[in-house]
Amino acid sequence: MKVAEVLHMNGGNGDTSYATNSLLQRKVILMTKPITDRAITSLYSNLNNPKTISIADLGCSSGPNTFLAVSGLVKAVDTARKKLRQNSPEFHIYLNDLPSNDFNTIFQSLQKHQEEIKRELGDGSGPCFFNGVPGSFYERLFPTDSLHFVHSSYSLHWLSQVPKGIEDNKGNIYMSASSPPSVIKAYYKQFESDFSTFLKCRSEELVKGGMMVLTTLGRKSEDPSSKDGCHIWELLAMTLNDLVAKGLVEEEKLNSFNIPKYTPSPTEIKVLVEKNGAFTINSLEVSQIYWTEFDNDNISKNNEKNNNGGYNVARCMRAVAEPMLVSHFGEGIMEDVFHRYREIIADSMSKEKTQFINVAVSLIRK
Ligand SMILES: C[S@@+](CC[C@H](N)C(=O)[O-])C[C@H]1O[C@@H](n2cnc3c(N)ncnc32)[C@H](O)[C@@H]1O
Repeated sequence: MKVAEVLHMNGGNGDTSYATNSLLQRKVILMTKPITDRAITSLYSNLNNPKTISIADLGCSSGPNTFLAVSGLVKAVDTARKKLRQNSPEFHIYLNDLPSNDFNTIFQSLQKHQEEIKRELGDGSGPCFFNGVPGSFYERLFPTDSLHFVHSSYSLHWLSQVPKGIEDNKGNIYMSASSPPSVIKAYYKQFESDFSTFLKCRSEELVKGGMMVLTTLGRKSEDPSSKDGCHIWELLAMTLNDLVAKGLVEEEKLNSFNIPKYTPSPTEIKVLVEKNGAFTINSLEVSQIYWTEFDNDNISKNNEKNNNGGYNVARCMRAVAEPMLVSHFGEGIMEDVFHRYREIIADSMSKEKTQFINVAVSLIRK
């Protein structure tokens, strides 16, 4: 599987699109807003009335979340500059994702979002110049010392490739309690290499004192195969195994499919940041979202009875995983996959309190 070619969220604005089904990721952006606001406000104050601020959002996808994160950052700077009675800087905004991302949908809605930001900030606020930057964040994307702020939410858990040497992960599609130790090791090695490359590239692109807030899906446990990082993919593996049993998917096809992602613990992130040496850790926080919290339109915290039978969780996972599944298993089987997946998710939610763990790190370029 060539990750850069097949990894993208469902495009457009339709029923199964990422734009329509990214409520979980929206909640995460809003939950981490105090961290991003604090970071960009402190950066702005240290820059001493700058003429421009360059902000990059890495793994921006397409849909409302793309603008939610960056407009929040622009607003935080505007609030800070008003408090300090300074003229507004100009904002250079860079929206990055892999080339197969639906950039057309982003730019078709750009004018609407620009007008919204302008209206909210009022007169005297600097213009926002938006740029699309297609490419992998595991490579250099920007000129040396050209960025002030990097933001990335729910993107860095995607690896640059499926780890090598995991042929023995039979019946699984990600790390799980039944994966051989060699598989767990191979997944960590790939994450270690990718995250280190990411830090090196960004350390070259950020100015001294520049800041970066990264939020990934992660885990609390130090065991990479623990449930808190892997459960949702174990349920997809169960779904695919069911379809193998029904003769709808070939066993060999399932055995050769593995997800290119890694859910790190805060300690793993800390160790790799310290090893890289170019950044100081400003904060490192872990939070969680119960699946029930976004499985109901009238979100009610921790209310197990109020869930929507796995509907939103399954749709969110479809928007994220469908292109990858289609490229391996073919389009014809998708309705069966997501119908059964929803049943299995609903069953799991009725039996236990399932949650996604988020790890958010705020870094300063030394
Ligand atoms: C779940 S979406 C998150 C989108 C958005 N940040 C949000 O919070 O809603 C993850 C995005 O990361 C992108 N991505 C994954 N690996 C990437 C890479 N190596 N370089 C750039 N983008 C990548 C995917 O294409 C996808 O659009």
